Amino acid sequence: MDKIIITGGKALDGKISISGGKNAALPLMCAAILTEEDVVFENAPTSLADMDSLKHLLEHLGCEVEFIGSKARINAKGIHHYNAPYDIVRKMRASILVLGPLLARFGEAVVSYPGGCAIGARPIDVTLKGLEALGTEITLDNGYVHAKVKGDQLQGTHYTLAVPSWTGTENLIMAAVFANGTTVFENVAREPEVVDLCNCLNSMGAKIEGAGTPTITIHGVDRLHGTTHTVMTDRLEAGTYAVAAAITGGRIHLDNTTHEVLHAFTESLQRSGASVTPVDNGLIVEGGNEIQPVDIITEPYPGFATDLQAQMMALMTLAKGTSLITETIFENRFMHVPELNRMGANITIQGNIAVVRGVPSLQGAPVMATDLRASVSMVLAGLAAKGDTTVNRIYHLDRGYERLDEKLKACGATIIRSCSD
Ligand code: EPU
Repeated sequence: MDKIIITGGKALDGKISISGGKNAALPLMCAAILTEEDVVFENAPTSLADMDSLKHLLEHLGCEVEFIGSKARINAKGIHHYNAPYDIVRKMRASILVLGPLLARFGEAVVSYPGGCAIGARPIDVTLKGLEALGTEITLDNGYVHAKVKGDQLQGTHYTLAVPSWTGTENLIMAAVFANGTTVFENVAREPEVVDLCNCLNSMGAKIEGAGTPTITIHGVDRLHGTTHTVMTDRLEAGTYAVAAAITGGRIHLDNTTHEVLHAFTESLQRSGASVTPVDNGLIVEGGNEIQPVDIITEPYPGFATDLQAQMMALMTLAKGTSLITETIFENRFMHVPELNRMGANITIQGNIAVVRGVPSLQGAPVMATDLRASVSMVLAGLAAKGDTTVNRIYHLDRGYERLDEKLKACGATIIRSCSD
């Protein structure tokens, strides 16, 4: 199994081109199910393992999927069945995003019920209740969700989400595009990736208003057509490399990203002493002389993203003082804490709060983690630590970071990827 070995202690200096967002591209690819025509995505992060898993699933359904460089082309004319099997869904929870579009176009779908994962229980009740409100009959059988439209078509409705679930919102929007009449969803997710999805759907002929606000209105249409859409920047990848600059006291020019989608994060990063300067089509992040402690509370967008919590915690391990990091989104998202402590950090957990007492330095160690963002926080700690850090189980990193080792190496990091057997 591959691993990454980092020799820490170098201030990074260079330019990194930020890829298209994983969490934007996955729902966008599922939206292609809604039309028989070609849908082309530019700036797609096609080398990610999660993109491959979704390609596999779409092909299994009968779609043509082609990845050429950073372009993805999908044609869903040939879909011949509506079943997302356990073997694919268990590898990637986002597979659940085929449920809404399959139901909208074909009136039925069978999707393996995604289980919990390392970061929490991750229920999907919001999606299922919303689909029921649109007129779907839902049954659970042998670990599968069977969804079938009652009558001829889904019916416009007024539904308030119990929590603003991100992929739940996306699934419901895609389900409602062909519903009869108007649908209003309240308390929806406001993530920029939801806005990107709605922009793409509108360019395919959908009529969606209010994306980016807590209320979304969808006027049902009869059909959607093909489009070409540019996937938005990966704000989580950008945030990760911003921390790489700050934790090493270096300077990284993040190209192909924007301050607007990173606001709560960059504000915290600046409070830690780093400088963040918007430039044409990007940001320059420069570490300060000293890292200041910063308290963080994760929240749905536009709050501080849970997907940047582990990275920020790596930075806070080296702060001049104590930071409180409160995780409010997932019940088990502190798996990086024991591993960071093995590198010399001083972190204790009290319920959903991590108390991070800054230490003067970290030491390299063999580490591993059980999810994507926890794994990358170890890479960041390794970049600043004395000596060698070996990050095992890097298939997690491959799910969400394109060419991570190459991008960091281009900024002067001593990092190698090696095969351990
Ligand atoms: N929740 C419910 N009921 C539901 C759905 C969610 O109670 O039906 C709760 C969850 O338990 C959790 C909160 O709502 O406490 C947020 O869950 P959400 O449904 O928003 O998460 P998700 O859509 O499954 C997406 C991202 C995650 C990111 C979360 C939170 C994608 C593909 N995944 O997951 O990304 O952490 O939103 O922002 O967009 C990652 O990229 O590393 C990642 C895990």
